[in-house]
Amino acid sequence: MGRKKVSIVGAGFVGATAAHWAAEKELGDVVLVDILEGIPQGKALDLFEASPVEGFDAKVVGSNGYDETRDSDVVLITSGVPRKPGMSREDLLETNKKIIESVVAEVVARSPKAVLIMVTNPLDTMTYLALKRSGLPKERVLGMAGILDTARFKAFIATELNVSVEDIQSLIMGGHGDEMVPLPRYTTVSGIPLVQLLPKEKIGRLVDRTRKGGGEIVNLLKTGSAFYAPSASAIQMAEAILKDKKRILPCCVYLEGEYGLRDICFGVPVKLGAKGAESIIQVDLNEEEKSLVAKSAESVKKSIAELKI
Ligand code: APR
Repeated sequence: MGRKKVSIVGAGFVGATAAHWAAEKELGDVVLVDILEGIPQGKALDLFEASPVEGFDAKVVGSNGYDETRDSDVVLITSGVPRKPGMSREDLLETNKKIIESVVAEVVARSPKAVLIMVTNPLDTMTYLALKRSGLPKERVLGMAGILDTARFKAFIATELNVSVEDIQSLIMGGHGDEMVPLPRYTTVSGIPLVQLLPKEKIGRLVDRTRKGGGEIVNLLKTGSAFYAPSASAIQMAEAILKDKKRILPCCVYLEGEYGLRDICFGVPVKLGAKGAESIIQVDLNEEEKSLVAKSAESVKKSIAELKI
């Protein structure tokens, strides 16, 4: 049995940090790809040189081409421009569309059996684009958003209650935009429903901060967007796939009737294992939650229409 291979396209903030998590967790050998000359090579060599200190055993290589990515098990796609203050994720669509189309063609030509994990924004739309352009089955083209959005919600809840983040379980569905659908009814602290621990208005404020969580970081950084939590979230997906963990995690996947939605990539809970998104879990939603899902789906559909494909 050979080692697993994780390729990461885009050696910027998200991609390089994802490489760091992947190598440290020894998920497999890591290949970093970027168009900038020297950047993926330099970051990969630097990371590999950290391995004797940190004691992880993973080969890390960087390249401006794709030959080193051949036969990858998982490919993370983070190439593209990030947001700056005042921009919405949708403002990135035109630029990132061209980048994703070229990258997906290069990746799939060399790794037709890989699972693709999209990170580039606007996330749901780029996942849809990658699915349509790659020709891969729907269970092998996923988008990372729900884990990140849920992680932000969990972090805010833990801070508010002054409890460990480890004890919080939650679920956020929907598109990766300000209309995402946090589900306080499906949120617990060590099994205790959140709705018993915090008043409705307080939960509402945490939900609101979560919806705008990406923008909060953009406004602080000013020159780019979040990367620690996004890369950690993408690597959690990669780990579930590479280790065939059958984890239940919210991911962006193609829907064909689930939740009453069709021909859309949208955040829903899925079972993640070696085959990718092995099944989609349908949770019961009340009328209010259903209408939030419908609203979020409407804005994702609008964005997908902008692709004109
Ligand atoms: N092929 C390979 N790499 C590319 C290409 C391409 N065609 N076009 C751009 N890149 C690279 C850039 O050279 C850069 O190194 O993608 C990298 C993006 O890195 P950053 O600018 O640091 O952006 P980052 O913060 O990593 O965000 C990347 O993820 O979270 C999303 O919204 C975010 O869409 C953005 C993406």
